[in-house]
Amino acid sequence: MNALGPIPEVFMLLKILVGSVVCQLRPCTMYSTDYGMFHFCIADSEHDWREGSEQYAWIEKCLASVDRKKQPWLIFSAHRVLGYSSNSWYAMEGSFEEPMGREHLQKLWQKYKVDIAFYGHVHNYERTCPIYQNQCVIPERYSYSGTVNGTIHVVVGGGGSHLSDFTEIDTVWSLYKDHDWGFVKLTAFNHSSLLFEYKKSRDGLVYDNFTISRDYRDVLACVHDGCEPTTLAS
Ligand SMILES: *[C@@H]1O[C@H](CO)[C@@H](O)[C@H](O)[C@H]1NC(C)=O
Ligand SMILES: *[C@@H]1O[C@H](CO)[C@@H](O)[C@H](O)[C@H]1NC(C)=O
Ligand SMILES: *[C@@H]1O[C@H](CO)[C@@H](O)[C@H](O)[C@H]1NC(C)=O
Repeated sequence: MNALGPIPEVFMLLKILVGSVVCQLRPCTMYSTDYGMFHFCIADSEHDWREGSEQYAWIEKCLASVDRKKQPWLIFSAHRVLGYSSNSWYAMEGSFEEPMGREHLQKLWQKYKVDIAFYGHVHNYERTCPIYQNQCVIPERYSYSGTVNGTIHVVVGGGGSHLSDFTEIDTVWSLYKDHDWGFVKLTAFNHSSLLFEYKKSRDGLVYDNFTISRDYRDVLACVHDGCEPTTLAS
């Protein structure tokens, strides 16, 4: 039994079929998976993610469950853009995301110090600065170190379908845009060094990249909205 009732056979089968992927809600549309030094929390943007929803509680549980000593690199992902995108239709709506995406989830990304959030749905590439509440928290563009006081949001939806247009509006948080097909490669050299590379599919060359260098103590550091009230009181 778990909080949601008995685990059915189909769940067990799924768990076996997909190896280390762990589904905590049924159907298995949101899941977590570990890959080496990475912990992934994959949300389901086709179902309610707002505060108070079942999924919100699941996302919090997933982010909270990682042991950053073992898996320092924490990744959030969803199909639709719940963070930031300069895609033209999101810009036309004025939200630069799915409405009520980051408004509801940024507290969790901040509290649990999510390093990178990945999205698709929009068929292009875009990377933000480390950001919290629409503000870039670090001016640096290519190399990040020290406390995790914001999350880097990446749209990497150039998997092969038609391409999506960007708005003409120049947002301060957008560091790199590419109206082309491509993919991202993450390399964790060790527990304190990560390389992010965006490559175009047409030539396999790196067009955007950054590094993150940080230690466990940087993950523990108190940041705005990132500490339990008890931590501040003690
Ligand atoms: C975030 O962290 C960086 C690097 O440690 C620091 O330079 C910056 O002032 C911090 N920003 C905020 C808003 O706390
Ligand atoms: C981690 O890897 C980076 C990049 O290869 C290297 O510079 C650094 O010394 C390594 N750190 C540790 C603690 O092994
Ligand atoms: C990463 O980006 C920086 C800044 O644009 C560039 O100088 C560097 O050569 C790039 N590294 C790789 C491996 O592409």
